Amino acid sequence: MAWTCLWTAASPPFDIAPKISPPSTLRRSHRDRARAGKGRAINFNAKEYENMSYAIAGFGAVGQALARMFARKGIEVAVASRRQPEALAPQATVIGPTIVPKTLKDALEADIVLLAVPYGEHREVAKARANWKGKIVIDVTNSLDDLGGVPSSSVVARALPGAQLVKAFNHLPARVLAEDPAINGARRVVFLSSDHESASATVATLVERLGYAPVNLGKIAEGGQLVQARDGIWGPLIFQDLFKKVQ
Ligand SMILES: NC(=O)c1ccc[n+]([C@@H]2O[C@H](COP(=O)([O-])OP(=O)(O)OC[C@H]3O[C@@H](n4cnc5c(N)ncnc54)[C@H](OP(=O)(O)O)[C@@H]3O)[C@@H](O)[C@H]2O)c1
Repeated sequence: MAWTCLWTAASPPFDIAPKISPPSTLRRSHRDRARAGKGRAINFNAKEYENMSYAIAGFGAVGQALARMFARKGIEVAVASRRQPEALAPQATVIGPTIVPKTLKDALEADIVLLAVPYGEHREVAKARANWKGKIVIDVTNSLDDLGGVPSSSVVARALPGAQLVKAFNHLPARVLAEDPAINGARRVVFLSSDHESASATVATLVERLGYAPVNLGKIAEGGQLVQARDGIWGPLIFQDLFKKVQ
């Protein structure tokens, strides 16, 4: 797959390919790398990706938009909130048969957890597990609080010791995230930033499986600032609904 250019619906294509990193070659997650031998980067095969489990913590506007992405591709995902699974079941059924309501505790057993709760609730979700080691958490939250210049995802990462955090899916409104990401041979862009390269590569693969085009911005405190909300000020890439042609 070759990556050519990005454009918005409102503007002609413009070539930014030299400025961005294509998704890295696939590497095993932290846990698998540890199993295989420290520091060794080994490609996942398709079967291993199929066997990964996913959960969405938070089943409001964004949680349901994320669930639609999984439903569109027939990928099973657990969904959870503070309510009991039965309370989420009617909406889950509307979205699709691969959306499985669970208790928060059970949902957080998944390999990859998408955090889609209000920013202030991330600590409550963090407390629901004694140990986050080996998990990848995709941080979809935005904070309008003044965090003294610290990226909100760095604060979330600190609350989840052992987890590898990747910031993604936070830059678009829920109603846009719920739309089909494939338009005229191009795919809607999802920005990734993380301090963990292997987790970022794993999430890039998920993003591709869901039908989006991952664009790696680098570390959270560096490229991640482009998708950071700060005391009511949006990073320049927030709300940028870009598409990437896939050849
Ligand atoms: N809305 C957007 O367009 C948009 C876009 C990008 C990113 N975001 C970010 O995404 C996050 C969610 O936004 P939203 O608009 O989806 O909010 P929302 O509609 O209010 O939904 C929040 C969800 O989180 C659940 N929740 C709250 N506290 C929880 C806890 N402690 N444990 C488990 N579940 C909990 C709520 O369910 P219960 O009350 O049943 O627990 C609800 O399902 C926010 O951080 C927001 O900044 C929003």
